[in-house]
Amino acid sequence: MNVRCSGLLALVVASVLPVSVATAKARWWEGAVIYEIYPRSFQDSNGDGVGDLPGIISRLDYLKALGVDAIWLTPIYPSPQVDFGYDVADYTNIDPQFGTLKDFDRLVAEAKKRGIRVLMDMVLNHTSDKHAWFLESMSSKDNPKRDWYVWNSGRTGKDGKRLPPNNWQSLFGHSAWTPAGATSDLYYHFFYKQQPDLNWRNPAVEKAMFDAVRFWLDRGAAGYRFDAVDTLFEVTDLRDAKEGPGVNAYGDPAPDFTLQSKQPEVHDVLRRLRALADSYPGDRLFMGEIYSKDMAELASWYGAKNDELHLPMNMALLPLDVDAASFRKALEAGQTQLGGNVPLFVTDNHDQPRSWDRYGDKTNDTAIARAVATMLLGTRSTALLYYGQEIGMLTTAPTRVEDVKDPIGITGWPKEKGRDGERTPMQWDGSKNAGFTKGTPWLPVPSSAATVNVEAQRNEQDSLFTWYKKLITLRHTNAAVRDGLTTFLDRDAQHAVVWLRTVKSAAPVVFAVNMKAEAVTLTVAADVAQGRVKGLKPLAVSHEVLKSSTPDAISLPPFGVYIGQIQR
Ligand code: NOJ
Repeated sequence: MNVRCSGLLALVVASVLPVSVATAKARWWEGAVIYEIYPRSFQDSNGDGVGDLPGIISRLDYLKALGVDAIWLTPIYPSPQVDFGYDVADYTNIDPQFGTLKDFDRLVAEAKKRGIRVLMDMVLNHTSDKHAWFLESMSSKDNPKRDWYVWNSGRTGKDGKRLPPNNWQSLFGHSAWTPAGATSDLYYHFFYKQQPDLNWRNPAVEKAMFDAVRFWLDRGAAGYRFDAVDTLFEVTDLRDAKEGPGVNAYGDPAPDFTLQSKQPEVHDVLRRLRALADSYPGDRLFMGEIYSKDMAELASWYGAKNDELHLPMNMALLPLDVDAASFRKALEAGQTQLGGNVPLFVTDNHDQPRSWDRYGDKTNDTAIARAVATMLLGTRSTALLYYGQEIGMLTTAPTRVEDVKDPIGITGWPKEKGRDGERTPMQWDGSKNAGFTKGTPWLPVPSSAATVNVEAQRNEQDSLFTWYKKLITLRHTNAAVRDGLTTFLDRDAQHAVVWLRTVKSAAPVVFAVNMKAEAVTLTVAADVAQGRVKGLKPLAVSHEVLKSSTPDAISLPPFGVYIGQIQR
């Protein structure tokens, strides 16, 4: 079925759009493409089945060819690896599994040669229970580090048993309080019990963590992704949380984490952290992991005076169905409701099933992935990619509980299978272990690797990889695509998401993405604000036939994409 959409409308939302974004000199990360690497799974160099820093170095040419501006490494510090690095035992060293400080220095230098920056992941909320600070803290009530963590004497149950002080739960299941050490006290942990929360109300904690932040900036890191920043503080009166109705995957009453997260004090910490970033040369970038459905709240993480995180993550695209109205709404909110700040859109990360499966319909998966990539990279934003997204890697969850590596998949089986499915090794080629390792991979290489791999897609004109590369190249070479304002057009259209990128210095670019499995024809002939559109010059098209599009007719096949320069 062909549906005729209304013509290109006036710049209907101009009054609510930020006005000055493209005028100031852009910082390197505005409009950049940041590629998340899960180091365990990217490239193994020594045959132990776990990816490492020399492995990443050996793949930098690939990342350069794809066009990424920076890589973000999930934690590579020494760690018992209960939460695969998010349980840090030493903030100023490298886990021997991943390499050495020398390897890190080499990575930064080699990346720099290729124009790629290196971003680290900093876990501020908690340490490993094997961190020297915690070992000291648990040793006695009068240890100087006792107050570095959140301890409580709890309540005494009828049978004389020690009970937690309240009903607070861990995000990863069951009570957030665990007894430990020489006393009968319990410590608080928002995540695994092997991840005790630091007490951010103690200034010594802030000092120690800020020193750790400086350590990697001094060593050449371009910035950080701050883990779980909104969980640094809890309410102090420890009142019980609301719970239910219903139970979660771990069999606990459905938790409400309001009292355990997003407390106002965290913004003071972020302001001080930002001052630290600003004291360094070179536009260091501080991104933050924030899950929020509320745009006003998301805006607040940039800081009232733009003095907190440079880029809080915008996770609004993650839960969406493939539907024009939902994507348009979420993308437009990112453009208009964040106080003119650059949004940091995310469609994939190491905690969520991959977008290939979340958005795919099993029939048009490549075309859908192309459409989603276009929205991620074609609107004004900094974009995060997750390794393997560019080739359409699938989520491959374990099928038996005995194979699960991620502890939440064991606690929550079978409702919660954990996050192994989105952390499988990078698929470089069609060989036995997909070119990831010569040993036994720490997670099995999915059978899909035989066909879904870099080697198969790299020189293939119609591959997803090539589409990503084209979009990234456009970002780098076309001022409107990199810096231009984003104005959504045809805002009632059911089929397509259509938008215009405009900047003073270059011709406007129109993007049209069909979000349905049926064809649609659009017209962009009449731009009432700017006069008639005389012609279109294709910049990238999902189907050859789209090259002959005219302002009167862009006929998009199912999930087709047209990107073209407007000629007036
Ligand atoms: C968020 C990280 O992305 C996730 O992988 C980790 O388990 C938790 N924070 C705890 O650090």
